[in-house]
Amino acid sequence: MIVAYELWFKQIILEVDSVRQMFAASVLDERHTLRIISRFNRIVLILNLLVDQFAILETMTPLDFMEFRGYLAPASGFQSLQFRLLENKLGIKQENRVRYNQQHYMEVFHDDPSVQALKDSISSPSLFDLVQSWLSRTPGLELEGFNFWEKFEQAANWWLDEEFYQSVQGASDPDLKKSMMDGYWKKKETFESIFNEELYEMAIKRGERRLSHKAFQGAMMIFLYRDEPRFHQPSQLLSLLMDIDSLLTKWRYNHVMMVQRMLGSKMGTGGSSGYQYLRSTISDRYKVFLDLFNLSTYLIPLNYVPPLTFNMKTRLFIATDNIADLINNFDLESEAKSEGKQKPGGATSRSSTSSLSAESMASQSSEDLSG
Ligand code: HEM
Repeated sequence: MIVAYELWFKQIILEVDSVRQMFAASVLDERHTLRIISRFNRIVLILNLLVDQFAILETMTPLDFMEFRGYLAPASGFQSLQFRLLENKLGIKQENRVRYNQQHYMEVFHDDPSVQALKDSISSPSLFDLVQSWLSRTPGLELEGFNFWEKFEQAANWWLDEEFYQSVQGASDPDLKKSMMDGYWKKKETFESIFNEELYEMAIKRGERRLSHKAFQGAMMIFLYRDEPRFHQPSQLLSLLMDIDSLLTKWRYNHVMMVQRMLGSKMGTGGSSGYQYLRSTISDRYKVFLDLFNLSTYLIPLNYVPPLTFNMKTRLFIATDNIADLINNFDLESEAKSEGKQKPGGATSRSSTSSLSAESMASQSSEDLSG
């Protein structure tokens, strides 16, 4: 059974390596995203299989297991080189690993090729590193262009204020008003933690966040505009990364449940406390793409999401060989309407590019596409 697991770990590592290679280019060739998605899908299928296989192992009784446990010693899951390589290649932070008996996980590997493979897996860019730099290049983040982040901040504040004013207006009870007020400030504070760069960096230092501020903005943009053709695949890709993280956590969980059933609180053959040690690995410190899960905290209702300017819409539209169609389909009327819509603070929520004429938009968009 363990051999079967090891073979599948090997396959997952091959898939991760091939994706890392595609991401390693300074600009990801967008023709590769479908291939990346199919590799991730394969990883997800394999992990599902590995998670489910524990049910078969669990048909063994603890007494059956005791009979052959002696033959296993001193072998232990700690010696699974591939598991460690996989963790490192995905991007688990070394400092987040749980130590057992003050030992480093690398100490069980003594042969040079294994030690070298582990060192390489730490020093080369992990999937996390590569996804991070890809996200930070998301089209639309440019300050001098669409400047998504500024617009998103305005939109989020707008939503919070409107929602707050509406609900407070309807409340007459002072206690209720106070609790609404508290809720409002709490929400404001939550959003402040992503809009204030200093606070954001402090959260990274505390280990609560990991993605760079720019990459976080890119991921948020992909989440909010996933219906735009050019973001279809990136949003699928982000969702698959979360699936992989979740499934690895489920693998750890099923494994630890089985360990408890077979060993109770006996020590492991690798020298750890067994159940206690393994239980401590089922935590967010072992999630590589935790920031993607946390993005949901900052989602705002769709009607508040900043509308795309024509130029941005064009960039996210893949079938660009017919600009005329795009211009005809673009709802200039609604754009003009929202152009005039005022925020509580008085500023408009739209960028100045949206007031261009159709002709100038066409010339601007073709420049943008050729760039
Ligand atoms: C009855 C079956 C199993 C038992 C009782 C068991 C027990 C344990 C224990 C006690 C540990 C902690 C390390 C130690 O002190 O030895 C461990 C770790 C580990 N086991 Fe198992 N195991 C079982 C099945 C498996 C299977 C099927 C795999 C698949 C390859 C596996 C892979 C691992 C890995 C990778 C670790 C390291 C986990 C980490 O450090 O996060 N184990 N196992």
